[in-house]
Amino acid sequence: MIGCGYVGLVTGACLAEAGHEVVCTDIDRERIAKLNAGGVPIYEHHLEGILTSARKAGRISYTADTAEAIRAGDAIFICVGTPPKENGEADLSAIDHVARQIAEAARSPKLVIEKSTVPARTGIQLGRALAAYSRETNVRFRVASNPEFLREGTAVEDFFHPDRIVVGVEDESSAAELREIYRPILERSFHCPVHNGACPAGHKAEFLVTTINSAELIKHASNSFLALKISYANVIADLCERIGADVEEVTHAMGLDPRIGGQFLRAGLGFGGFCFPKDVQAFIHLAGAVGVDFDILKAADRVNKQCIDRFFEKVRKALWVLKGKQVAVLGLAFKANTDDIRFAPALEVVKRLLEEGAHVHASDPEAISRTKALYPQAAYHRDAYEALRSADAALVCTEWDVFRNLDWERAGKLMARRLVIDGRNLYSPQRMRELGFEYYSFGRE
Ligand SMILES: NC(=O)c1ccc[n+]([C@@H]2O[C@H](COP(=O)([O-])OP(=O)(O)OC[C@H]3O[C@@H](n4cnc5c(N)ncnc54)[C@H](O)[C@@H]3O)[C@@H](O)[C@H]2O)c1
Repeated sequence: MIGCGYVGLVTGACLAEAGHEVVCTDIDRERIAKLNAGGVPIYEHHLEGILTSARKAGRISYTADTAEAIRAGDAIFICVGTPPKENGEADLSAIDHVARQIAEAARSPKLVIEKSTVPARTGIQLGRALAAYSRETNVRFRVASNPEFLREGTAVEDFFHPDRIVVGVEDESSAAELREIYRPILERSFHCPVHNGACPAGHKAEFLVTTINSAELIKHASNSFLALKISYANVIADLCERIGADVEEVTHAMGLDPRIGGQFLRAGLGFGGFCFPKDVQAFIHLAGAVGVDFDILKAADRVNKQCIDRFFEKVRKALWVLKGKQVAVLGLAFKANTDDIRFAPALEVVKRLLEEGAHVHASDPEAISRTKALYPQAAYHRDAYEALRSADAALVCTEWDVFRNLDWERAGKLMARRLVIDGRNLYSPQRMRELGFEYYSFGRE
């Protein structure tokens, strides 16, 4: 496993839990030292438990010596980051760097698997790079693409219970090797840490063998489609506000049609995180590079960026002047059940509030320390009620259950003004008004 970030750790931990022997490496030596000391650098439900048990059982180990990790494995998963460049194109320099390391260190044949999200045709380049950098003429490299579809917050569950496992390969032996790696998951012969061995009966994961180009495209096409759905719901919400309809009534009814499906139709602050924003950008860029104008996706991206503007219009309308106001920000992570703040809408909210001279009191169950490093000027409270004390307004940015279940009667008594601007449509407008709140959300009156 090269890259011990979100995907690398979840993949490594789950494959170890499923019975494989896993060696992990990362360019970040501090991260490796922390892992070796029994620490877990990210917050993800169930991850700590399975990493601890795999380490105790000797099925997972960590080394900062990349060559050692490369030599230990027959199959090497590349899980490094592929961040966006200024122009939206995926930055593949970490993949190139890893290709050189693998080519130089390998002494035996390797199946090199792209787990990172990469644009179509990266596999072809990866194969060329491995051949070009290799010093041992008799070491054979095969390349495969195995895109990851896990969702942060439920990553371990998703890994053990996937809808599909996609493998893009060049030959049958690579497909067979990957099928063997995933056999415990396909046959459900692992001990599930999420359901403690009693997994609900569900449909079995499909194992799909495709070309490498198709596998790479499947990942970008899937994430971009989900992003489209979210932006579509946000435009419907805008329409609802202007016409006087309720977006939840509309999207609920839409979602009952199985051709549409109810998921990813939630209006609000829009999508963030390390996947959707950058994958949408990278897909638009890839399409443009081969002469396909992906207008529909560009529009989805634009709509998403406008969500923050629409949120601030509501904030300004309600609060008027922001300078000097005390504002509680509920939620910093880009979604619930993670400490990941990459491209989180809440960060933009905090940034704009601070720029305008508001006093920000933020709360999040897991993402405070990461946000504090970026915005030390704000005050942070683990307890949401402390963030709400004396606040002129509460801005809801992440759909954590602790916020969903807040006692607003209690909160109202602590706040200087009963004003809530809800970027995630967590509460009933009627109930909030009954409690004496001025309440604004997306696409609802
Ligand atoms: N986070 C998700 O939910 C998710 C889901 C599916 C796919 N992906 C994709 O997986 C990839 C990784 O995402 P992530 O969220 O795990 O990122 P991450 O930033 O959490 O982890 C990347 C890791 O790679 C390490 N790294 C970078 N360059 C390296 C090098 N040359 N050698 C060794 N290690 C190196 C970094 O130090 C870091 O620990 C991305 O392409 C992302 O799009 C992410």
